[in-house]
Amino acid sequence: MSEHVEIAARGSCLEIHLNRPDKKNAITNAMYAAMADAMTAAAANPAVRSIVFAGNGASFCSGNDLQDFLQAPPKNPSSPVLRFLDCIAATPKVMIAAVHGHCVGIGATLLLHCDYVAADPTTSLQYSFVKMALVPEAGSSLLLPRAVGRLKAAELLLLGDKIPAGEALSLGLVSRVTAEGDQLTAARAFAARLDALPPEAIAATRKLLNADRQTVSARMAEEITAFQHRLASSEFREAVAAFMQKRAPNFAKS
Ligand code: COA
Repeated sequence: MSEHVEIAARGSCLEIHLNRPDKKNAITNAMYAAMADAMTAAAANPAVRSIVFAGNGASFCSGNDLQDFLQAPPKNPSSPVLRFLDCIAATPKVMIAAVHGHCVGIGATLLLHCDYVAADPTTSLQYSFVKMALVPEAGSSLLLPRAVGRLKAAELLLLGDKIPAGEALSLGLVSRVTAEGDQLTAARAFAARLDALPPEAIAATRKLLNADRQTVSARMAEEITAFQHRLASSEFREAVAAFMQKRAPNFAKS
């Protein structure tokens, strides 16, 4: 368990709240492990019908903890980040997110696996992998082009610009923009509506929606191989050093 994730049952819903607000909810290995354990247990528990992700503080999530990526990069399938990625791709539960503020890296790609995303107007999504000298993960190199078309996906993945809530809604990357601060209420309302619906029909529908899970998993594996190479690169070390030193990176010398 990690103090930086709050995990609790709320009716038929498992709520996972990222709780590291001083680091904009950057996700550490301990946080990934806690979430993967909880999602694995939930998958086997028929009383859990949905999983809601939310973030405490000013932002939903600033992505993977960059220091962890430097010091403890994922090396094998049992590493916490890879276990977590497998859970979000494979869970039989309805996946819901309540987002606000910055949603960067995994904070944005996680949403591509969700069935409903409530965002408040402070939300911005950012696929900032190339900026950090990395490559897309969590199947986003496949799922983002499917969602927005290849050209738009190429722009978003190559430049890593912020996508404000309104644009995210028109691109189909979030389901709904709520009033400020109402994203969790909207996510819980969606989860509550599931209670009145037949669980087996929901499970069968999700299975059809995600029928190409093997393709997504295969792409994730390809991404991970490329990602691991990038983590070992001098470009990545320069990107992290620049971020920590609050300066612009200089990739010419890396
Ligand atoms: N890993 C580790 N620490 C992080 C982090 C991350 N992904 N994101 C933010 N932090 C830390 C900052 O270093 C800072 O720590 P400090 O207070 O000790 O200096 C603190 O969280 C607050 O971040 P800050 O950058 O000051 O907040 P901001 O509101 O100005 O900007 C972000 C928020 C999310 C836009 C910015 O922090 C950011 O770009 N983070 C990196 C995102 C990223 O590249 N993630 C990995 C993608 S693969």
